[in-house]
Amino acid sequence: MEGITSKNCRVIMKGIILAGGSGSRLNPLTSVISKQLLPVYDKPLVYYPLSTLISIGIDDILLISNPNQIDLFKKLLGDGENFGINITYAVQKEPKGIAESLIIGEDFIGGENCALILGDNIFISEHLSKSLSIEFLGGAQIFTKTVEDPQRYGVVNIKDGKPKEIIEKPDSFISNQAVTGLYIYDKYASSLCKSLKPSKRNELEITELNQLYLNNDDLKCLPLGNSSIWMDAGTFDSLQDSSNCISSLQKRYGRLVGSPEYEAYKSNIVSKDYLLKIIKNHPKNSYYTSLEKMLKQD
Ligand code: G1P
Repeated sequence: MEGITSKNCRVIMKGIILAGGSGSRLNPLTSVISKQLLPVYDKPLVYYPLSTLISIGIDDILLISNPNQIDLFKKLLGDGENFGINITYAVQKEPKGIAESLIIGEDFIGGENCALILGDNIFISEHLSKSLSIEFLGGAQIFTKTVEDPQRYGVVNIKDGKPKEIIEKPDSFISNQAVTGLYIYDKYASSLCKSLKPSKRNELEITELNQLYLNNDDLKCLPLGNSSIWMDAGTFDSLQDSSNCISSLQKRYGRLVGSPEYEAYKSNIVSKDYLLKIIKNHPKNSYYTSLEKMLKQD
């Protein structure tokens, strides 16, 4: 397995999925189950960010969730064997912010580069693996997308291709370039996070970490472009829209979107035979039947 490579050297092999938070905007859907375990059409939401990390060649993943939900993720994803990857788990005791995940994951990251993805972010993009396979030269790399409602997100102001300003949920308009929930960091990220102070909402803000990299002229922004789809499934409407979008794409093209198993196959992490054996242990006429069909077509 080569991972995200530059001249065949291992660049990013570690990934963190943050599947924490209280999911308060989705109550009562989230009163007994984590947002990231809710269905998005035919798969749990967490399958989509998992697929994204695998699609960029990452095969060692730490999943972070709340103390009362972590066992459900373990039951769903196990040690990653079904996807041919390694999955380990850690707990975020309280929703203290996205940047805290890099402190919780410090030992796991082990001084390497790391990709962090939010458990409610769905990316459908060929562009991601292509842009990352060019080169990750260190610092931090974020991915932006033009949106209609920038006040909902971290927003970055880009001039002449370079980020000038980054603000979390700005009150007044600075740009329509939202910062999506996929971040690539060099080995300094965990120690930089330890220098952050909690924000007004009592969280360690990922935007503050990105600001530190920006101050050092070490923050790179890659626009995802019009052919890429990005959805943050954290509200009733966006969750419903995500399901509709996945359902339409799958029906239109007859192929699964956001399948971690298929992405593992495409990234050469597992062989077709390995997956076909796993599929045999699952019920017929389910997601696994579509996966089998897709593998046999390839
Ligand atoms: C978080 C980040 C924000 C980012 C967004 C992407 O927002 O703080 O910068 O743009 O995820 O989904 P939150 O989910 O905390 O509202």
